[in-house]
Amino acid sequence: MIPREIIDEIVYRNDIEHVIGSYVTLKRAGSNLNGLCPFHSEKTPSFTVFPATKSFYCFGCGAGGDVITFVMRAENLDYADAIHNLAQRAGITIPEDETGAGERTIPRKRIYEMNLAAAKFFRDCLFNPEYGSEAMKYLAEERGLGMTTIKRFGLGFSPNNAWMLTNHMHSLGYTDEELVTGFLCGKSKKTGKTYDYYRNRVIFPIIDTLGNIVAFGGRVMDDSKPKYLNTSDTPAFKKSRHLFALNFAKNHAAEQMILCEGYMDVIALHAAGFENAVATLGTAITSEQARIFAKYTKKVIITYDSDSAGQTAADKAMRLLGEAGVDVRVLKLSGAKDPDEYIKKYGKDAFRQIVGESKSGFDYKLDKVLAAHDISIAEEKIKAANEVCAIIAGYHSGVEREIYILSAAKALGLSREVLLTDVERIRRRMKRDADAKQSRDAVMAAKNLDNHVNRDAAKHIRANAAEEAVIGLMLIYDELRAEVANGVLDLSADDFMTEFGRKVFVALCELERSEHGFSKAMLGALFSVDEMGKLEQIEQNRRKYTKNDREVLVECIRNLKEEKNKSENQDDINFWLNSKRSKAREIKNKNG
Ligand code: CTP
Ligand code: MN
Repeated sequence: MIPREIIDEIVYRNDIEHVIGSYVTLKRAGSNLNGLCPFHSEKTPSFTVFPATKSFYCFGCGAGGDVITFVMRAENLDYADAIHNLAQRAGITIPEDETGAGERTIPRKRIYEMNLAAAKFFRDCLFNPEYGSEAMKYLAEERGLGMTTIKRFGLGFSPNNAWMLTNHMHSLGYTDEELVTGFLCGKSKKTGKTYDYYRNRVIFPIIDTLGNIVAFGGRVMDDSKPKYLNTSDTPAFKKSRHLFALNFAKNHAAEQMILCEGYMDVIALHAAGFENAVATLGTAITSEQARIFAKYTKKVIITYDSDSAGQTAADKAMRLLGEAGVDVRVLKLSGAKDPDEYIKKYGKDAFRQIVGESKSGFDYKLDKVLAAHDISIAEEKIKAANEVCAIIAGYHSGVEREIYILSAAKALGLSREVLLTDVERIRRRMKRDADAKQSRDAVMAAKNLDNHVNRDAAKHIRANAAEEAVIGLMLIYDELRAEVANGVLDLSADDFMTEFGRKVFVALCELERSEHGFSKAMLGALFSVDEMGKLEQIEQNRRKYTKNDREVLVECIRNLKEEKNKSENQDDINFWLNSKRSKAREIKNKNG
C-alpha cells in the first residue's frame, strides 16, 4: 500500500477544481462550480464541484467523490493507478518499494504484460511458416495487406491447437487464473482444465493510447462462425471505452477522424494513408466513446456498412457524437459494402474524393426524408416538412438551424419564415420535455444507484434514513466520528440494518482508530466508484441541514436502535408464528 501521508499529499497538491477543470468546462455558481457531467450525457449542467469539501457530485447520475474517485472514473483506473496518475500530475514521486499494486487479485499491469507476451507469441506464430503460412497467405493475398501494415498493427495468428499458448504462458510463469481472467484461456466446465481461447484465428491486438495491449480480436479465415472472438471486459479493459487503432489515429486526428465498423476497414484505411480511422470493438458506439472523439477531434466522418444494420448504427453514432459536441459527417458508399471493399475496388483517390464530398449529418438526414416522401403530393409534403423541422429543432446552434432552414426551404419549396415558426414551436416543446425528462432521469438514476449500491435500503426506509444521517455526520464532523469510533457514544455495527450502512460504519471507525487516523482520501481504496458517489450524496444531503450536531446524532442513533429492536421483535413474532404453524401442521398430519 502507498503510505497514507503520501496519499494525503497527492490529494492536497491536486486541486480538485483544477483537475476536474481539465476534463470539464466549469462555471462558477456561488461557492461551487457547475458543468456538464462527463459521466453521462446531459444538456443542462447537474455536475457540481464543491471546492470547500474537495469533492464533486452529479445530481443527474449520482457519480461523486473526491479527486481520486474522479480520476478513477474519468480514466477508467483503479484506486492505486489513479493515485499514480495524480502523483504524476503533481510531480510527486512515490517511493519504489511502496508501489505495491494494491489488493486487487490481478493487477492491471500484470494483464498488460501478459497480453504483450501473448501478442509476441501470436506474431511469432504468424511469421513461423510451420504454423502461420496459411494465415499469412490469407492476410497478404485474400485481404491484400502489405508486410508493413501487418507489422504495424502487430497482427498475429493463433495455431489450431488447444494448449500451445497456454503452455507457453505457463512457461513464462502466468497462472491459470491470470490467463482465464485476461481472456487468453477458457476453462473447461467438466475437467477444470484451461485451454487456448483463440484457435486457428488471425489475431488483431487492441492497443490503448499509452501503448498497452488491452485486448484481442480473432477472426476466422473462412466463413465459419463466430467470425470474430473478442476479449470480454477484464480488470484492464472495457470495450465501451476503447477504439481500435486510436493509438495511431490520435496523432492524425486534429482536423477529422473516420469512424468505421470493422477492424479490417480500419486497417485498409490506414494502409491507404487514412491514418485517422478508428472502429468500435464490435459494438454500437457508446456515449463514452463519443466523448473520446470529442477529446481528440472536431469532426467525425462516419462510414458504416451500407446494410440497414449499418445505417441504424450510423443514426445512433450521429446522435451521440452530436451530443458530445462533435461535427458529424456521413459518408455514403455506393458500389461497395464497406470502406475496405471500396478502396480495393476504386482506389484511395476515389475514397479521398468521397470523404471530401461527405454530407453533413443534416444533408444526409434531409436526403433520407426526401427519399421517403413524394413532395409533389400535399400530404406527403406536410409530413416531410414536419420531419425536417423536427430534425432542425434538434440542433443547438442558432447559426446551424438558420443554415439548415434555408436549405430545407429550398428543397421543399417553402418559405424560410413558415419553417422557422415550426422549428421554434418544436423547440419550445422539446425544452419542456427535456426538462421534465432530466428531472425524471435524475430521480431514476439516484434510485438505481441506491438500489445497486445499497440493496437493503428500500426494505428499511426509516432505518436507512437514520443510518445515512449517522454516516453523514461522521463524514463531516471529526469530533463526532471520534466519539462514535471510540465508544463514547454507544453504537455498533450490529445496530445497522443495511449491509452497506454497516460496511461504511465499520470502515469509518477502523480508519478513525488506525495509526494515522481518518482521511477521506483512503475511502477510495475501500469502496467502488459507485459507492463513493453514494457516500458523497449522503454527505451533501447532510450538509443541507442547518442543525447538525451531537444532539442530532444521538437522536439518529436512538432511531436506529429503535428500528433494529422493532425488526428483532418482528423476527421473534415470525419465529413464534412459524413454530405454531408447523405445530399445527404436525397435528394435522398425525390426525390425517
Ligand atoms: N464483430 C464481432 N463479432 C462478430 C462479427 C463482427 O465482434 N461475430 C465486430 C468486429 O469488431 C468487426 C466488426 O464487428 O471488425 C464489423 O464486422 P464485419 O463488418 O462483419 O467485419 P469486418 O471487420 O469488416 O471483417 P471482414 O471484412 O473480414 O468481413
Ligand atoms: Mn468488412
